[in-house]
Amino acid sequence: ASAKAAEICELAPIVPVLIVEDVAHAAPLAAALVAGGLPALEVTLRTDAALEVIAEMARVEGGVVGAGTLLTPKDVQRAVEAGAKFGVSPGATDTLLDACEEAGLPLLPGAASATEAMRLLERGYTIQKFFPAEAAGGAPFLKSLASPLPQIRFCPTGGVSPKNARDYLSLPNVICAGGSWVAPKEMFKSGDWAGIERLAAEAATLPR
Ligand code: 3PG
Repeated sequence: ASAKAAEICELAPIVPVLIVEDVAHAAPLAAALVAGGLPALEVTLRTDAALEVIAEMARVEGGVVGAGTLLTPKDVQRAVEAGAKFGVSPGATDTLLDACEEAGLPLLPGAASATEAMRLLERGYTIQKFFPAEAAGGAPFLKSLASPLPQIRFCPTGGVSPKNARDYLSLPNVICAGGSWVAPKEMFKSGDWAGIERLAAEAATLPR
């Protein structure tokens, strides 16, 4: 279930996590992040504009736009209709996994314990999101899963920042990390696209 997710996660060390309220910000925001070297973008379904934002961003050359905060089959259907190429969820339920598999939507499902990770592995998910990364134990926790569960690679998300990103990315079981710091709300509200491109460029050069 994870081959396509792996391909997307390998595009860059960081996947920007985006909460966008104004659809007018979508295209310039995506263009700045892609230009900075971060092509895979997660648009969270947490705003009224999110689906329109996905549709707009999907037209940006070089971008691979996914939908985050998928909770229900309806979310999956709407995300696919909007043009999302992948999905991300904070946790995982059988209902949600079934919906993504039926829709053919590559999913990065969330796990925060060995049991959750094993349940997803049973269904074929070898690429998983580790969420909420910092609160659930951070890099030391994830490092502890590498030896018993070497088949799984994670995208830690939640509290990842320039301060700790290297700690995660240096682990053998981390494929990439997600974070919102590359697109601070104040910067895209003020139209500081050059600033966002700079933040993206710094994140794109993080070693992994
Ligand atoms: C989220 O839940 O918004 C994502 O996990 C991003 O978390 P962050 O804002 O701590 O990067």
